[in-house]
Amino acid sequence: MPNLGARRNIPQNISKADGVCTFVKHAGTIRILAISGSLRRASSNSALVEAAARLAPGTVKISIYRGLAELPAFNPDLDDDAPETVIRFRAALQACDAVLISSPEYAHGVPGVVKNALDWVVRSGELIDKPIAIINASARATHAWASLAETLRVMSARVILDASITVSLDGKRIDANGFVEHAELSTELRRAIEALAAAARDVLIVLQ
Ligand SMILES: Cc1cc2nc3c(=O)[nH]c(=O)nc-3n(C[C@H](O)[C@H](O)[C@H](O)COP(=O)(O)O)c2cc1C
Repeated sequence: MPNLGARRNIPQNISKADGVCTFVKHAGTIRILAISGSLRRASSNSALVEAAARLAPGTVKISIYRGLAELPAFNPDLDDDAPETVIRFRAALQACDAVLISSPEYAHGVPGVVKNALDWVVRSGELIDKPIAIINASARATHAWASLAETLRVMSARVILDASITVSLDGKRIDANGFVEHAELSTELRRAIEALAAAARDVLIVLQ
């Protein structure tokens, strides 16, 4: 299996024409780390993430990261000697091929817990070149979506628009079972997972 981490070694100015980089297809199981940006017990975004894990096709394994609330407030002084919870978060990101974030909007912004988690990996770089789907459970959450996309892009992650869907619930409450059993919503969610996995299969490797 190609070493996904190798992409981080590619200097910005090297192109395929230089003969040192090429795309190959990642043939194995695609590992996606899914993160809900809501800590609420009955969260729609957490339900969406749970449903995604259950709807993933056999070639995709979705693990859910549940540690957002345990990450301490970001402090650049601790970046190089990070607390254990941060080390585990970074390792989980390093070990996956793609990330799926489902987040609510609070006061026209990204929830603090999500931004805080991302701040811990700006310098350590686990999201560089990582394909990411930004999904949510509300069509009104446009400010948070745009802000999250901007933050991820400036961190050199690859926001996959095809996989970044809004599952509009029109104010209805729905749990993970509801998503999985809903023909239309589950089809849409499965298609987004497949689009994210397809992006993760295109792996850029460096030929030494
Ligand atoms: C403090 C607070 C602020 C909110 N601000 C916004 C907002 O600016 N725009 C919006 O569309 N929804 C806003 N909402 C609504 C939530 O984003 C919405 O209920 C979301 O679906 C909650 O996600 P969850 O079910 O995963 O917890 C806000 C909710 C809370 C609690």
